[in-house]
Amino acid sequence: MLTEDLPLFPFRSPGDNPFTPVTGTDLRHLDGPVTRVRLPTGGWTWLVTRHADVKQLLRSDAFSADMSSPNFPLLRPAPNGPRNRSGGFIRMDGDEHLRLRRMLTAEFMIKNIRRIEPLITDAVGSSLDALAAAGPPADLVEHFALPVPSLVICHLLGVPYADHAFFQQRSAILLDQSADPLKLRDAIGELRGYLADLIEARRQQPAEDLIGRLVTERVATGELDAEELIGMSLLLLIAGHETTANMIGLSTLLLLQHPEHLAALRDDEDLADGMVEELLRYLTIVRTGLPRLARRDVDVGGHTVRAGEPVTALLSLANRDDDVFAGGDDFDPYRQAQQHLAFGFGVHQCIGQPLARAELRIALVRLVRRFPGLALAADPAKLPQRDTSIVFGLAELPVTW
Ligand code: HEM
Repeated sequence: MLTEDLPLFPFRSPGDNPFTPVTGTDLRHLDGPVTRVRLPTGGWTWLVTRHADVKQLLRSDAFSADMSSPNFPLLRPAPNGPRNRSGGFIRMDGDEHLRLRRMLTAEFMIKNIRRIEPLITDAVGSSLDALAAAGPPADLVEHFALPVPSLVICHLLGVPYADHAFFQQRSAILLDQSADPLKLRDAIGELRGYLADLIEARRQQPAEDLIGRLVTERVATGELDAEELIGMSLLLLIAGHETTANMIGLSTLLLLQHPEHLAALRDDEDLADGMVEELLRYLTIVRTGLPRLARRDVDVGGHTVRAGEPVTALLSLANRDDDVFAGGDDFDPYRQAQQHLAFGFGVHQCIGQPLARAELRIALVRLVRRFPGLALAADPAKLPQRDTSIVFGLAELPVTW
């Protein structure tokens, strides 16, 4: 088939049910577990949708995550001109990726996240107060879902929360697949500049936050250069708030539509861990999938992907695969959902997952306890969605109580 005759990916369109992994009508375009689809940039990619195939692809070193390679399945044109990608290890391979990732692994280990639970609880408490003061009715995204992870990641990194409007606006542009390339370049430049100033300030005056410690322990010793630290901090700042924020917003909407599960969570906190796993599976907010490029010929799902060909691991459909999750299109907080791929798989699997899980658990339990009469204050079919973002979510969630 010619590229121009292929179905266009991603398939979402405004007004779709926010819980549909890709729109129902467009599922018809998938003619098998590995389907060729057209990208908005004019290129194409193999869309891989089965759980087992997605796992195989993401753990195989036959695939590269380096987006600077020609043919990499980009959803938007790369900004023109030289681009400083230093430190952004999510799109690096091999030793280069591992060297930077290893500098952060201890920081996000479960035992260290347990230690910062009081900080998360404080962030949740102050955001709940802000929500209460803003309404009823009030926008839960603005007053609760966004501030919680943002307060936490700012505190961990040592970024002043007072600047949140500045970096939230720019990080939304970075994630928006429909963003104008010039706006994108400016947003990256401004964020890098902001973090460069912060790092310089830590050089002058050492601090105990993560950026401060990386300056003292890695930059000063020559293991890391300042440009790499800027890129790593940028990755954490963006990945650390937008993702969890969108999960909190969508999870709240889902629970409001399933009052029996909401009541169960309010009455029994022990349900929270299992429910969070099922929310991660069912909502899979990285809806545009994970892009990779084959380095050599490789068989995926009975199909040969040739060296140099692009592939996209569609996590949202893999997480609905009936072979692994019986009745995968149903939300069931009592199922064992731990095998979900919402955090990816393999060497790039999300480093922040223990933090995200703790934030979701604490935020949802405290929310439903603090507002027992929580209810939606808008038509659920008309809620504005972040449907052009790599990380899917609700732009607003008006609630009352
Ligand atoms: C990687 C999802 C929260 C930091 C990833 C990947 C996914 C993901 C799917 C894999 C990307 C790939 O293979 O191309 C999520 C979801 C979250 C979340 C669904 C919330 C519910 C966080 C948080 C942080 C974080 C809170 C940081 C504090 C990162 C980093 C990577 C990553 C640094 C790159 C890891 C690497 O390339 O080695 N995330 N994430 N994420 N995530 Fe998360």
